Amino acid sequence: MECFKELVGFYAFYLFRGLLENMERIGLGTGSTVKYFIKLFIKNDLYRGRELFVSSLDTYYFLRRYGVESYTVNELGNDLLDFYIDGFDEASINLDLVKGRGGAFNWEKKLASRSKLRIYIGDYTKFNNRTYLYLKLVPIEVKPDFLEEVVERVSKLGFQPKIRYGKVRDGPVLTDGGNYIVDLKLNIIGEPKKIDQVLKGIKGVVETGVFPNELVDHLLISGPFPGLVKIYSRRGFRE
Ligand code: A5P
Repeated sequence: MECFKELVGFYAFYLFRGLLENMERIGLGTGSTVKYFIKLFIKNDLYRGRELFVSSLDTYYFLRRYGVESYTVNELGNDLLDFYIDGFDEASINLDLVKGRGGAFNWEKKLASRSKLRIYIGDYTKFNNRTYLYLKLVPIEVKPDFLEEVVERVSKLGFQPKIRYGKVRDGPVLTDGGNYIVDLKLNIIGEPKKIDQVLKGIKGVVETGVFPNELVDHLLISGPFPGLVKIYSRRGFRE
């Protein structure tokens, strides 16, 4: 699948390169797919003269390895981003998404909701060809003090919670914001916006990995054939 990640990162870079040249504030997502885009972005010097905002410390340190400085979402203030690009874990044909395998969905969502243009890239195995979401567990970010309360509450709602544990450290995984992640099994998600609101209404839940399509402008999907990239859009490229 790596070749399809690389393909879609490459395709996105050359598709949006012209637009990016006239943009000032760029948001960069997290994960293995978007890193292919970021590498080209750096190699072609597009970071120069622009303010970059990252959705995770992982992306922050990735940029630093190339000597590129960036800001975190906390430094965005009241400004808007011109462009945000990220990967995703599952997409429906309505362009609703599940994100958060890497645990960065809180900052990712903040950047996406503050951007004028939102692009997501991924390979064909992540596009579910359904009007609803159903393939992936849905992560929620939870304040440590509320962990047990939240687990009890979502269990009662029938969501089969599982606290996310790390592989190289004992104890729950910590997000960049110092919170925990609980993965939920929700079966079919027909109304992503509603479920996002219901979960965020639970005391102690900071954010969810459900990205309703209002946070998505264009989705680029690579494969299953070599060289094939499909673009799904909620609005025209010129808007
Ligand atoms: C990070 O928390 C995630 O939302 C990623 O953006 C998503 O999991 C895609 O990652 P990959 O490109 O590595 O599959």
